[in-house]
Amino acid sequence: MARSGDSPAHETTPSTVSHSPRDASSKPAGRPDVLVRRARLEDEPHIRAFTQNTFEWGDYVADAFSEWLQSGSDVYVAEVDGIPVGVTCVAYPAEGEAWFQGIRVKADLRRMGIASMLTETSIAGARERGARVSRANIDSDNYRSQGLAKTMGFRQVSRISEFTVPLAGCLLSEADVLSKDQLTSADASLAGVESDAGIESGAGIESRAGIKSRDGLAPTDGNMHLAIQVTRATPEEAGQLFDAASKQIRYLGCEYVWISLTRQNLARAATEEWLLVARDGRGKTLAGGLMSNPYVEDHIHTGPEDEDGRDAHTDAEGGDLHVQADAAEGHLHAHADAEKGYLCAGLGSLFGTREGVVAIIRHALGLLGTQAAKRNITPGELFVSVESESPVAEELLSNSRQAGLDMREHGETGLWELRLTG
Ligand SMILES: CC(C)(COP(=O)(O)OP(=O)(O)OC[C@H]1O[C@@H](n2cnc3c(N)ncnc32)[C@H](O)[C@@H]1OP(=O)(O)O)[C@@H](O)C(=O)NCCC(=O)NCCS
Repeated sequence: MARSGDSPAHETTPSTVSHSPRDASSKPAGRPDVLVRRARLEDEPHIRAFTQNTFEWGDYVADAFSEWLQSGSDVYVAEVDGIPVGVTCVAYPAEGEAWFQGIRVKADLRRMGIASMLTETSIAGARERGARVSRANIDSDNYRSQGLAKTMGFRQVSRISEFTVPLAGCLLSEADVLSKDQLTSADASLAGVESDAGIESGAGIESRAGIKSRDGLAPTDGNMHLAIQVTRATPEEAGQLFDAASKQIRYLGCEYVWISLTRQNLARAATEEWLLVARDGRGKTLAGGLMSNPYVEDHIHTGPEDEDGRDAHTDAEGGDLHVQADAAEGHLHAHADAEKGYLCAGLGSLFGTREGVVAIIRHALGLLGTQAAKRNITPGELFVSVESESPVAEELLSNSRQAGLDMREHGETGLWELRLTG
């Protein structure tokens, strides 16, 4: 459908009704009148109804909807005859940057320009909020959404390779596994748990990895005695990491949302997430990566009962599911009959040397296992996403396997971008 140059969406503030119908004068016969407006909490049952079977696995949008509304994001619905039939959300994860997510249109009303209308309204709203760029993440095989993005002027600027690393399948060394008491107050509070220790400050946790011969890792600087140390970087240290990071990656993210890699964004990420840095024994920076706060998932992509490729689910009947990582002192041992679900975390924006990156993954797994034990939740998996063109992506799979990590390819997405200025 042709875009309407005089769409009222371009004239209203995002706090008011957006527009309806788009390009009404040229609306082909049989196409419904569509109103795009701001979403309201009471839209949720309608959204749940038409998003139930969006994908084979279902959809997350209805569950996220009320959170979207509370988060300060712009959330729009498209309605036909007063009933919501389309939805989308625009978040603002960094200064000047809009993130388009969760666009859905009821199956029997697709290909009628509804998503285009929602996107036009989103773009207008993002401009009014001062965003200079909008981005979206689209699965590499989602041709409909790619078509929509192209129609709206977006272009693909990067590809993201995704991997899962089930904690249960990894050989962690004792050094990777932190005792519960090693969690600092800062790390514990980020993850929403109480810390017993609560005394350390600054960079916090340290672990040593990559020094055992069974890891099969090439020793740093050819010196077997130089351990790789992984710590959580402070916002001040983030500034120093920026130069190394910007040589290999362009975007910052550890889950599904990606923002520009800038000094300022990196420093903020160090405060809000866990910016992990690996250094050799002489203090030279080897690698970095951003780990999300752990979260509980009701299923994981890979697990002990996943031999035939099925997703592992918690046992709804009350917990004979049992996951135990081969780790020191049983720290990672947890039962599903504690809190339901699996503790998972995202790890992204990896850059640096292969030894450093593997050490960071091991450390992140150790952190996840420790948190899981502390919260009495079954440890799940790390969801690792890296820019496909980065040197890390190329080597990640073989190096991690060599290092005893059960790293599995999950898929690839495209990062799409629309410049809103100029
Ligand atoms: C993707 C989706 C939101 C598009 O909604 P829609 O209302 O059908 O989209 P529109 O009618 O506005 O189409 C806009 C453009 O998208 C592309 N497109 C949409 N559906 C398409 C299809 N089935 N095949 C090819 N291109 C398609 C076309 O380029 C189209 O422009 P055109 O009609 O002028 O050729 C809808 O298909 C949907 O809800 N899919 C499932 C959820 C999903 O994948 N969301 C995106 C996750 S990133």
